[in-house]
Amino acid sequence: EPPGWVREVDVVVVGSGVAGLTAALECRERMGRETRVMVVTKDVVAAGSTRWAQGGIASVQAEGDTVAEHVTDTLVAGAGLCEPAAVEVLVSEGPDEVATLVERGTQFDLDAAGRLALTREGGHHRNRIAHAGGDATGAEIERALVATVKADPGIEIVEQALVLDLLQAVTEDGAPAVAGITLHVLGEGSRQGVGAVRARAVVLATGGIGQIYAVTTNPPVSTGDGVAAALRAGARLRDVEFIQFHPTVLFLGTGARGQLPLVSEAVRGEGGLLVNSVGERFMVGQHELAELAPRDVVAKAIMKEMAREGSDHVYVDGRMLGEETWRVRFPTILHSCRVAGIDPVTDLIPVAPAAHYFCGGVETDLEGATNLAGLYACGEVASSGVHGANRLASNSLLEGLVFAARIAGSLARDLPPLREPLDDDREGWLVDPAVVPALQRTMSRDCGGLRNATGLDRAASSLDRLAGRRTTEPGLAAWEATNLLCVAVAVLSSAGRREESRGAHWRDDFGERRESWQRHLVVQSEDGRLV
Ligand code: SIN
Repeated sequence: EPPGWVREVDVVVVGSGVAGLTAALECRERMGRETRVMVVTKDVVAAGSTRWAQGGIASVQAEGDTVAEHVTDTLVAGAGLCEPAAVEVLVSEGPDEVATLVERGTQFDLDAAGRLALTREGGHHRNRIAHAGGDATGAEIERALVATVKADPGIEIVEQALVLDLLQAVTEDGAPAVAGITLHVLGEGSRQGVGAVRARAVVLATGGIGQIYAVTTNPPVSTGDGVAAALRAGARLRDVEFIQFHPTVLFLGTGARGQLPLVSEAVRGEGGLLVNSVGERFMVGQHELAELAPRDVVAKAIMKEMAREGSDHVYVDGRMLGEETWRVRFPTILHSCRVAGIDPVTDLIPVAPAAHYFCGGVETDLEGATNLAGLYACGEVASSGVHGANRLASNSLLEGLVFAARIAGSLARDLPPLREPLDDDREGWLVDPAVVPALQRTMSRDCGGLRNATGLDRAASSLDRLAGRRTTEPGLAAWEATNLLCVAVAVLSSAGRREESRGAHWRDDFGERRESWQRHLVVQSEDGRLV
C-alpha cells in the first residue's frame, strides 16, 4: 500500500522502552533544542518489556567494586562471545547513565545511609544491582522516562503505530542506507492508515522476540518487528541463536501460554534457594556460585533436574525471607504468586525456565550504528556485543541507556543528510495470523532451551509450511505474524549452523563448547533469502 501521508523529522525512534525513550531525550539534549524527534510505538508508550523488568540495573556503585570486576563477570557470563570493547564501554559508562536516570526522576530504593540499595543476581560476584519499588524497577524507570519525554514539546509521540518497513536509500558513495520508515497508524488522530516518516536517522529500539515461543516473560508486543524490518532492509543480524531462558518463571501448569510472571533472580540474591520435588538443593556442587551461577548454568541445571525427576518444574524456596521482606522487597512477585494461589511466605514457588531475552540482534558498532547508513539500534533489538552467548543479569536496562546515549552523541557529531527514499519494488506478502500458535509450539519444542539437528530441521520444515499460509488482509496481527515467522526462521538457521553448546545455545548432539566456534554468526537477507 503506498503511503497516504508523509512526515519529515530529524530522528525517528521506533520503540518506547528504556532504550527508545533515552535515545529520544538524549538526541534532544545533545543535538540541540531545534532537533525534531518522533517516537513511534506499536501500542501505548508503556506497553513494552521495560516495565516488566524486576531485578534491576547493574552498575559499579558499591565501595570496593570495580569496572574490571563487572567487566569480568559480564565476559564470563557471555561464554567467550562478548566484544570486550563493547563491554568496557557498557560498564565504564554505566554509573553515569544510572545517575542520569535519577536526574530524570527515577526513584531507586535507598539504603539506611541514603545510597542506592544494591542486590546481587546470577553471575555477579558483587552487590551492584539497583532496584526500585522492591521488584518493580522497570516500571519505575518507564514511569520516570515517559513523564520526562511527555514534558518535552520537541518530542512527538505516535502511539498505536506499527512500523512496516524501513525506507531504503543509498549514500553519496552508493552504499545502502535508510531514509525513514513506513508505518501503519491504527489509533485515533489526524494521521491514520499507512504513512511514511522521512528522517536523517532511524533508531530501532523495538525490544525482543519472546513471542516466537509459547511461554515467555515478554509482553505480547515483543514480536521482533524491528529485527524483521532490519533484516528485510539488508541489515546484518548477529548471534541470533542465543536466546536466554530465564531459569525461574512462575509455573502455571503445562497448558499455560503467553506471558508468564517472572520470579526474579533477586529472590535468590537475597537468600532464596532452588529445590527439587523432594526439597533437595541441586545447585550445590554444580558451580561455585550455586543458586547464583550465571543464568544459562542455572537454567540448564533446572532442565536436567526436571528431566531426571520426570517433572515439569522445580521450586524456589523463599520462605526463609519472611513476610516483611516479601512485602517490601518483592511486592510484584508476592502478588503474582498469591493470584496463582501460592503464598511464598509459607509455600514453595513452582518455577520452570521460559524464554526471556534475545542476546543477539541487529549488529551495531560502539556508536549503535548498523551496516546501513542512517540506521541505528539500541537495547534488546541490537547486538552491540555486550551479551555474547548469554547476558549477565541486569545488564539489559544498562545496555539500553548506555548505547542510546552513544547514538545521540554520534548523531550530534555527525548527522546524516536527509536522503531520498528509493522506490520500493520488494514483493511483499503477509502470513495468516492463525499460524502463530503453531509457530510458537514448534519453536518451544524444537528450538528452546535444548536443541538438536533433528528438531531444528523439523522446525525449519514446519515453518516453511506455515509461511505458505498467506493472508490478503493487512493489519496488526498479520504483520506481527509475518515478523515472528521472519525472525524465527533466522533463529533456526543460526541455531542449526552452530554445532556446539555455548551459553544460552545448548545442543544435545553437540554437547561441548568448541574452540573453533569462538566466533559470531551473521544472518543477512539477499533477494528474500537468508545467507
Ligand atoms: C530478574 O529479575 O531475574 C531478571 C533480570 C534480568 O533479566 O536481567
